[in-house]
Amino acid sequence: MCGIVGILGQHQVAPILVDALKRLEYRGYDSAGIATVNNGLLDRRRAVGKLVNLSDVLVHNPLAGLAGIGHTRWATHGAANEQNAHPHACGPVTVVHNGIIENFRDLRETLSAHGYSPVTDTDTETVAMLCAHYLAQGHDPKAAVQATIAELDGAFALLFLFEGHENLMIAARKGSPLAIGHGDGEMYVGSDAIALAPMTDQITYLDEGDIAFITRDGADIIDATGAPAHRDIQRIEAQATVIDKAGHKHFMTKEIHEQPVVLSEALARYAPNGIPALPEALDFTKFDRILMVACGTGYYSCLTAKYWFEQIARIPCEVDVASEFRYREPPIAPRTLAIFVSQSGETADTLAALRYAKDQADMIVSLVNVGTSSIAREADLALAILAGIEVSVASTKAYTNQLTVLALLALAAAQAKGAIDDHGLASHMKDLRQVPDLMRQTLKLDNDIASLAKTLAPAPSVLFLGRGVMFATALEAALKLKELSYIHAEAYASGELKHGPIALIEPALPVVVFAPHDRLFDKTVSNMQEVMARHGQVMLITDAQGRASASDGTHSLLELPATGDLSGPIVYALPAQLLAYHTAMAKGTDIDQPRNLAKSVTVE
Ligand code: M6R
Repeated sequence: MCGIVGILGQHQVAPILVDALKRLEYRGYDSAGIATVNNGLLDRRRAVGKLVNLSDVLVHNPLAGLAGIGHTRWATHGAANEQNAHPHACGPVTVVHNGIIENFRDLRETLSAHGYSPVTDTDTETVAMLCAHYLAQGHDPKAAVQATIAELDGAFALLFLFEGHENLMIAARKGSPLAIGHGDGEMYVGSDAIALAPMTDQITYLDEGDIAFITRDGADIIDATGAPAHRDIQRIEAQATVIDKAGHKHFMTKEIHEQPVVLSEALARYAPNGIPALPEALDFTKFDRILMVACGTGYYSCLTAKYWFEQIARIPCEVDVASEFRYREPPIAPRTLAIFVSQSGETADTLAALRYAKDQADMIVSLVNVGTSSIAREADLALAILAGIEVSVASTKAYTNQLTVLALLALAAAQAKGAIDDHGLASHMKDLRQVPDLMRQTLKLDNDIASLAKTLAPAPSVLFLGRGVMFATALEAALKLKELSYIHAEAYASGELKHGPIALIEPALPVVVFAPHDRLFDKTVSNMQEVMARHGQVMLITDAQGRASASDGTHSLLELPATGDLSGPIVYALPAQLLAYHTAMAKGTDIDQPRNLAKSVTVE
């Protein structure tokens, strides 16, 4: 989603701001802009589309100044055009914003009575108008921002710059994260530390409700009550901010190929001696049921884990998408462990769902990839999935690492509940430990998968089928294909085929079937045969045993190594990812930043 940067520097900031914004490109955006204050005057440049367009504008119309703010916008209110691009300005103040101001219409009405009229469709402009209104009433910038923030409803991160103030930026956090960077006679603000990485590794994260008054000497912070607050300066590991394609054409392929390594790291952390070793605080004997909540790909990792928790640990498990869960407001039974899964740790719906569950569930555990995120901080226990920075908007290595940590949780639960004996545990662990190798073997099939993708690229629609744990794999495969190639895709549990989707079957519809040779294989093959009997084009993804018994009549086939109950959905995620990747390559779509999508969905 939107990216924010700000610099009080010793050098011309415009090129540095653009550079910092480039490091936030991965979040997804559709316009960008910067503003500076120079000789006391505010000025700004904005452009629709990629940052290269903003750079072009700046070549023809440079912007001077040692203090500035910048923004990449992911449109929420109003089209992606120059007028709606940030920074937004009103008189002596300019502002950039991530999030949504929910009461902006009411505020607009109030402000119109004072002679303020909006010139954009955005909610953000209202913040600039409100602040300008308080400045006009004689407030200084600090008081004006405090008064402004007090009137805003919603979730946001805001950064203000003022006419006549070349040594002041004001940052406010309510719902969306902001990091303050400390330099040598310079200060910075960023949506995350990644944006600030070349400038500093000394970072202060603002807490909920904080307002920071920043000068080149440092930051004075007040908390939500207005009291002075101390926030630590943390040193960020350089490795944690490296954004580099390591020779790959896209971040997505780099991240797909990193999976064997990062998955091994998760196994080493959570099963160092070959058996699950989770924090003692997580005592499964205290729970009778599990609730899992997430969005998008995280939701599919939870759906997969539901099978594991129920089949292996024999614990009833409910899974929901966060946007439904939070408003359905379901009762949460006693002795429930609630697990929230989010790569970014900032997904607005998942965070709201976590807050809803907080006073009701016995324990809140989060699985996150960003340890400093809100979802990590607000959980009773945060488990890092250790996937490393995921830049591509389409989630890949975070998914397989989520699955790995969830598999270990299921085994720990099974042990604690006495649902598994030592032999069973050892056999599941053996299965999990072979995943990095199975992944490496699967990645070698990249060229074969690229050929299969040629069948999908011209198709207007693709159907994915799977049973049991492979149902969630089919759902994830359909999501990946939609995101990357913009081809309509649907996924069904194979057993549902006859209940409607079979009407879609015709020769032009590719049907991708995920079917390892497991106890449900024959059932899935029956469904596949129903497709073939209607001249559907079946692409079967299976193993050697599956190939030997069911390849007849398929349009194409991909043979993966043999997998087990835990390794199956993790390994089969790779062809799902690579099929989407190569289909997108064939179609020439924007792979790392698909249209309309954002990496971290901080608005609901
Ligand atoms: O950061 P989160 O894991 O909470 O994000 C949830 C979804 O927005 C995310 O998984 C999304 O579906 C991805 N683009 C999938 O590739």
